[in-house]
Amino acid sequence: MAESTSTPVPASPPPATSAEAAPATAAAPASPTTAGQPVAESPQIAVDADPIYHPRPLDNDDVDNDSSLGSENALSTASISSSILQFRKLHGRTFHNFGGADKVEYWAPNDDAQNDQLDINHHLLTLALDNKLFFAPLSSPKRVLDVGTGTGMWAIDFADEFPDCEVTGIDLSPIQPTWVPPNCKFELDDASQPWTFPDNHFDYIHFRYMIGCFKDWPAVYREAYRCLKPGGWIEHMDCTADVLSDDGSLPQDTVFVEWKKVFKEAGDKMGQTFEVVDNDNYVGWLKDAGFMGVKNTLIKTPVGSWPADPKWKAVGQFNQYMLEGGVEGLGLYIITNVLGWKYDEMQVFISKVKAGLRNKNWHSYCVWGAAWGQKPYE
Ligand SMILES: C[S@@+](CC[C@H](N)C(=O)[O-])C[C@H]1O[C@@H](n2cnc3c(N)ncnc32)[C@H](O)[C@@H]1O
Repeated sequence: MAESTSTPVPASPPPATSAEAAPATAAAPASPTTAGQPVAESPQIAVDADPIYHPRPLDNDDVDNDSSLGSENALSTASISSSILQFRKLHGRTFHNFGGADKVEYWAPNDDAQNDQLDINHHLLTLALDNKLFFAPLSSPKRVLDVGTGTGMWAIDFADEFPDCEVTGIDLSPIQPTWVPPNCKFELDDASQPWTFPDNHFDYIHFRYMIGCFKDWPAVYREAYRCLKPGGWIEHMDCTADVLSDDGSLPQDTVFVEWKKVFKEAGDKMGQTFEVVDNDNYVGWLKDAGFMGVKNTLIKTPVGSWPADPKWKAVGQFNQYMLEGGVEGLGLYIITNVLGWKYDEMQVFISKVKAGLRNKNWHSYCVWGAAWGQKPYE
């Protein structure tokens, strides 16, 4: 049985759910990135004194598996050359092959197994945010860009919410479904290159879950700035590689400390940092690119069934399921190819991470952050 916390905790969920509720950058809290240290400003999530654990908490009916459609590799606007479909293979997993490995180094697989994790992650984030897809104060956006759209779930949901808005999702890999709302389209594009979109074109540009993807985030943000209309908004939601707890249930020396270290070292070696939310780095880059009124907030996504609140318990179950299925894919390339571990060593490490994710006594959570800002009118 999991221990309940002795500290009184609020029943309310941890994330700020509106721009107004989120802390201004100037009052930004301490960084969430110190391994083993709780994220200071988000309320502690109440603990269920007697959670029921299922070996596999979800069955397939609970999970949106739309990304399987992506295997048909059909896009609305891009004509796909055969080389793009010749994915790189590593230990039975496939990775993108866009312009050759020396040009773009995207570290996660693009196969159905990993794409399912993206879909589950989209589901748990929208659950955590009470179906909110963004924090920026948007009013009737007409043209929106989703950079690194993945399986396109965010873009599709956004297009459904704003039927009068034209939503474009771009990605390196053709992993998006073909059945999409009429106001949503997907294109193959490498966002690390100068963008082909015109100046002053979009009302809103969105990034999510893009850590480790770019060598030069400030340059990417500058392209977004150029392509946004005056008064348009940029928003970036991403995670850290931390797994933390607030109540001391997670010891200081768990496998998650090594997990964080692996991403730090791999990011440094690739020159593509995973520390985007950490230390509010993205806030600084957004301001440097010229965005005004930049705000940011942090969101805790629990791992496992330990939260007392039914919503956070569900988020925790989806998160545990997603991570258990996803950590091997997340670690495979960076641990073996970038850091040079042997495949067997990587497997042992991943097994330990999975055991940590299953530990019922650890009230652990992942850390997500969102930052948004506006291109000035003048
Ligand atoms: C972790 S996934 C996140 C997908 C989606 N944004 C989400 O939240 O589910 C990162 C995505 O970024 C894409 N990506 C990585 N580098 C990119 C680049 N240089 N240009 C465009 N897309 C890129 C990958 O192909 C992958 O689909």
